[in-house]
Amino acid sequence: MSQSPNRQWRLARRPVGMVSETDFEYREEPLPQIGDGQALVRNLYVSFDPAMRGWMEDRKSYIPPVGIGEVMRAGCVAQVLESKAPGLAPGDFVQGLFGWQEYAVAGPGLGAATKIPPGTPLTWPLGVLGITGLTAYFGLLDLGKPKPGETVLVSGAAGATGSVVAQIAKRVIGCRVVGIAGGREKCAWLTGELGFDAAINYKDADWRDQLRRACPGGIDIDFENVGGEIMNTVMAEMNLHGRVVLCGLISEYNASKRMLGPYDTILMKRLTVSGFIILDYAPRFTEAVMQLGQWMMQGKLRHVDTIVEGLDAAPEALNMLFDGENRGKLLIKVS
Ligand SMILES: NC(=O)c1ccc[n+]([C@@H]2O[C@H](COP(=O)([O-])OP(=O)(O)OC[C@H]3O[C@@H](n4cnc5c(N)ncnc54)[C@H](OP(=O)(O)O)[C@@H]3O)[C@@H](O)[C@H]2O)c1
Repeated sequence: MSQSPNRQWRLARRPVGMVSETDFEYREEPLPQIGDGQALVRNLYVSFDPAMRGWMEDRKSYIPPVGIGEVMRAGCVAQVLESKAPGLAPGDFVQGLFGWQEYAVAGPGLGAATKIPPGTPLTWPLGVLGITGLTAYFGLLDLGKPKPGETVLVSGAAGATGSVVAQIAKRVIGCRVVGIAGGREKCAWLTGELGFDAAINYKDADWRDQLRRACPGGIDIDFENVGGEIMNTVMAEMNLHGRVVLCGLISEYNASKRMLGPYDTILMKRLTVSGFIILDYAPRFTEAVMQLGQWMMQGKLRHVDTIVEGLDAAPEALNMLFDGENRGKLLIKVS
């Protein structure tokens, strides 16, 4: 087995605003030893998610914060090197919250490993068949309840969650899909390769007018990933009894003060707004993975990712989510 050290990033302090490398401590530790019921895994891909910014804050949430001095938490795809855990053998590919490090001990609790079915492309369990794909699936279908012909607006449309929401809405349900994303190239990609009916670049000065022109019959479902000014503008275009799936508010994750939101519009338009955390759907993950996998095989969905090389880039990679430098799922390829 490799004698190389375990390179890792630990949280050094609570960041203020965008993260910087000095919020983390880079360490080289000896390879961990495993006990009964545990396995040693080597990370191959590390997932980058906006939620990580929230996990660094010391506040009550759906999952405990990452402690100062702990390895930064992240979903990963890894390969088993050594195992004393039932059902896991060297060579198996697994996924779990193994963190920003090269090697990890998989065991019960937060670091549990789930086997990846043979033949699955290794980036899919962190993207279209992972948390972001599941979020798209349940958020759109269970809460948005889309019907063919309805207009679905997706903010953060070129990202991991948004791009899957839009593909399901368009190609599986038959909705009219309008996306909001940052940059002309991203928008051209959304309408060209992903088949959106329209895409609006929120960095254009006249993006609000573009939005109104792109949704002449109003908006039936807002799949909201961004919040703030974008959400306010979208809400004004909602149709009566529209559904707002409040998935995320990325525009506010680095802000010290959060805005209150467009509650007046929700009231006047009798909108249904459903906040959700994907972990609530854990008992139905298998159902969703089977269905998403089938849509992939039928060519209805495409897995899209942006892959950065090397664990050294972890702190910078996290900021790429907030600068919009990713298309689809952002991953680090460790080795
Ligand atoms: N509720 C849940 O259980 C759940 C689960 C997973 C994800 N989420 C939420 O879903 C959203 C998307 O997450 P993801 O993992 O799929 O990330 P992602 O969309 O792949 O990446 C984030 C994207 O957000 C856009 N963005 C960043 N800052 C922005 C700003 N200030 N204004 C407008 N757009 C901005 C950027 O694209 P542009 O170039 O377009 O700016 C960036 O590429 C997040 O809000 C996340 O918290 C929620």
